[in-house]
Amino acid sequence: MPFNTALTRKLGIRVPVVQGGMQWVGYAEMAAAVSNAGGLGIITALTQPSPDALRAEIRKCRALTSFPFGVNLTLLPAMVPPDYPAYARVVLEEGIRIVETAGNSPGPIIKQLKAADPPCVILHKCTTIRHAMSAVKLGVDFLSIDGFECAGHVGETDITNFILLSRARQVMTVPFIASGGFADGQGLAAALSLGAEGINMGTRFMATVEAPIHQKIKQAIVDADETDTELVLRRWKNTSRLFKNKVSQEAVKIERESTTGKFEEVGGLVSGKRGRQVFLNGDKDFGVWTAGQVIGLIHDIPTCEDLLNRIEKEAIDTISTASNLIVDEQPPADIRGKKAGEQGPTDAGPNVTKSPWNSKL
Ligand SMILES: Cc1cc2nc3c(=O)[nH]c(=O)nc-3n(C[C@H](O)[C@H](O)[C@H](O)COP(=O)(O)O)c2cc1C
Repeated sequence: MPFNTALTRKLGIRVPVVQGGMQWVGYAEMAAAVSNAGGLGIITALTQPSPDALRAEIRKCRALTSFPFGVNLTLLPAMVPPDYPAYARVVLEEGIRIVETAGNSPGPIIKQLKAADPPCVILHKCTTIRHAMSAVKLGVDFLSIDGFECAGHVGETDITNFILLSRARQVMTVPFIASGGFADGQGLAAALSLGAEGINMGTRFMATVEAPIHQKIKQAIVDADETDTELVLRRWKNTSRLFKNKVSQEAVKIERESTTGKFEEVGGLVSGKRGRQVFLNGDKDFGVWTAGQVIGLIHDIPTCEDLLNRIEKEAIDTISTASNLIVDEQPPADIRGKKAGEQGPTDAGPNVTKSPWNSKL
């Protein structure tokens, strides 16, 4: 039985799972594999050196899947920012009508994408309710609410998804999906219970057969646990959750101990160029690379199809098991035990008077 959520209806996908934009991972192969598996795959625009290269990547993806896919446009502060309007123009010219936006001051780009005929469906990623409210005013269709667990830019407020998603449910006037910390169907079921229309995953998709990164990095994710991430660049209010390795630990040490507070002291260590090499050469300690706390929940490297089928089944089983928790009548108490100090097995059957928990009553 397929899911029926605002996300699956709007995007025409079977499983309410989005593969979030991922720098140096979100290429055509990744996006097509997720879309073919029933989710929404997303090409990350800035993995491409120019708008024309993005055009070629979109065409490549279209040759690999007949299902819907989207493009991520991440607007980050830079000395020389990429030509975002030109990237957005290519997206529109190539007929893409699903865009994930993220980062600072998305207003002009969202306006450009919404002016298209038909207008783009915009999923905007944000880590605070305040930013989500601003994005609603810009006309976005879905918020992607990114909790503190997430990989990459976690923001500066450190609110985890248990609070953030329920806040979104309480105050948002547009639908939202849950992002950060998701890897399985139990997580999807939980997100749906909290009011989300689906989930967005990044790190989990890195450990799939189709992810275009070195096998050793996929294995490093499988081997890691939930404590193996590091928060870097907090001092400069640009906090990123990265994989804990020699370079990220070194960067954090300098960040904490530096008396000058000059970014240049860590700039070389956290350079994206070195991070990109990690995915190509498989040396997890070559540079910094992005990963979320969810690495602790990832234990295998399936195909995207196996992963999404599994997530779908787990979510359905979880929701149906949860519905079995509601019964017509409250069952009798099932507390068994013995009085404090009493030896030997106790009688079977509900007998609250023998319970150690009420022996003092
Ligand atoms: C390797 C990697 C690169 C990422 N790059 C981007 C990016 O360029 N733009 C963006 O909006 N989000 C980026 N993200 C964040 C993801 O889109 C997603 O929001 C996040 O991974 C969700 O948290 P999770 O990893 O716990 O699933 C990246 C995540 C990873 C793992």
